[in-house]
Amino acid sequence: MATMKQTDYIAREDKYGAHNYHPLPVVLDRGEGAFVWDTDGNRYFDFLSAYSAVNQGHCHPKIVDALVEQARKLTLTSRAFYSSNLGEYEEFVTKYFGFDKVLPMNTGAEGDETALKIARKWAYTKKGIAENQAKIIVCENNFHGRTITVVSMSTDPDSYGGFGPFTPGFVKIPYNDLKALENELKDPNVCAFLVEPIQGEAGVFVPDEGYLKKAFDMCKAKNVLFIADEVQTGIARTGKLLACDWEGVKPDILILGKALSGGVFPVSAVLASNDVMLCIKPGEHGSTFGGNPIACKVAIAALKVVEEEKLAEKAEKMGQIFREEIRKIKSDMITLVRGKGLLNAVIIKPKKGVVAWDVCVKMKDNGLLAKPTHGDIIRFAPPLIISESQLREAIEIIKKSILSFE
Ligand SMILES: Cc1ncc(COP(=O)(O)O)c(C=O)c1O
Repeated sequence: MATMKQTDYIAREDKYGAHNYHPLPVVLDRGEGAFVWDTDGNRYFDFLSAYSAVNQGHCHPKIVDALVEQARKLTLTSRAFYSSNLGEYEEFVTKYFGFDKVLPMNTGAEGDETALKIARKWAYTKKGIAENQAKIIVCENNFHGRTITVVSMSTDPDSYGGFGPFTPGFVKIPYNDLKALENELKDPNVCAFLVEPIQGEAGVFVPDEGYLKKAFDMCKAKNVLFIADEVQTGIARTGKLLACDWEGVKPDILILGKALSGGVFPVSAVLASNDVMLCIKPGEHGSTFGGNPIACKVAIAALKVVEEEKLAEKAEKMGQIFREEIRKIKSDMITLVRGKGLLNAVIIKPKKGVVAWDVCVKMKDNGLLAKPTHGDIIRFAPPLIISESQLREAIEIIKKSILSFE
């Protein structure tokens, strides 16, 4: 077969795949650490990290070894039987994050669905809410995934439009608004508050300092579960193991995904206390692949890398450098730089018809991949293993790309 050009790969995806994404025109073929290479051998800094799944860097050898070793031994048992390493993983992950129990799933959206089910069960079996009356408070501009129930919580027409009828039982309040939360918490049928500690997909919205702690305390005062969706913010991304750690908040239910496997395998998890988790009885929830032997081994390896390589500390230090340096760029196209750790966003003001998408295409041409979200926001989230010299090289690319439009 003649060598395929990138346009050929793109045309093939376009022809045979559903058109549910709008990728930048680059065809990736290989990854290592903070870099990916396209099919022509061009190297790029990966500043998306598969939406923060690849915190440990592409193809981390320790995580890949764990995958390969386990894949040769036993891949899937289903939960119809015990497996020799599910318990090992369960013990490891619960001690790692300080919870009694874990419920293993595969994707972030499944993690959210699971948390919602647990919260509703808890509402009926523990809080004493009348059947089918439980309400869960969620935030405007949230992103928790793509299933019907999850998009029922969404306020983004791209996410929910055309997919009704929706799952009832959600109350939507503005993010970062404690008054609105206080108001809704007056309803005795409220069983949970689901929140992203930083809204990632919405464009890296960092709430006011103290918001999470106050929201947590308000939930506690009303016997309402505080559920943190740390699928994107968790596992060292924001400069702490969990973004909730910035405010000393330990959620009643914690949802993890993405970097739980270092991007090597779909692994998600819901963690909670015995009191909350044991509301779910045998047969009431599960997944064929949830907690499979490969996922267990991969997640243990991925979490060990986070600790061994001090990725939280690195993210904090590199994040400071990133924001400081980007703020120095003299361009009126940059209107705001915000973020925590290595989860950052730059707001781009269009100039002479040039929008955030064009900036991303220019950065791609210069060797750095990032993706616009909601039109004018570019998220910058490199793998956390990025070195300071690599980061500074990447910052130069961003600078050069933006200044090329001046
Ligand atoms: C906060 C949050 N929750 C859930 C999800 C959904 O995860 P997945 O795409 O693995 O279903 C995402 C994905 O971006 C996310 O950012």
